[in-house]
Amino acid sequence: MATHETDYTTLAKQLRALSDGETDRLALCANFVGLLYNELGEINWLGIYVLRGDDLVLGPFQGKPACVRIPLGQGVCGTAAQQMRSIIVADVHSFEGHIVCDPASKSELVVPLISGDRLIGVLDIDSPTPARFRQADRLGVESLCGELVERLSDEQVSGFI
Ligand code: SME
Repeated sequence: MATHETDYTTLAKQLRALSDGETDRLALCANFVGLLYNELGEINWLGIYVLRGDDLVLGPFQGKPACVRIPLGQGVCGTAAQQMRSIIVADVHSFEGHIVCDPASKSELVVPLISGDRLIGVLDIDSPTPARFRQADRLGVESLCGELVERLSDEQVSGFI
């Protein structure tokens, strides 16, 4: 059972301090991932998959090397992407089609990254603790992802992702 309570207000401030004034998409995503991986607690993998055609392709992440390409509709990531909604999985073994990258992962939260009405990727967070993620985590992470996407969509910001 999860023991972690994350202060998402503080995390949002830390994110702003790291991101304000930066105009490179890759740098913004890399630090976003680094911050959340280190601050959320009970996390063994956290990263961004970017939509390329009909596939989600591995982007900045922290944790063990992971599968590079996930077709839309497959696994938790591909399902969240296709349905453009966040998915909390309390027990990854009970999710049909779950793609195992790190066997240590027991529960998962995937949040789609949506700019306007366009999907640009997903944030995938894996925990070695069963049922690690609560609705408060979903809401907090969705809000942080919203801030990231807003920055990535700014016309002053450039670079690939
Ligand atoms: N768990 C994911 C695959 C990606 S790895 O966990 C990094 C899924 O089933 O979508």
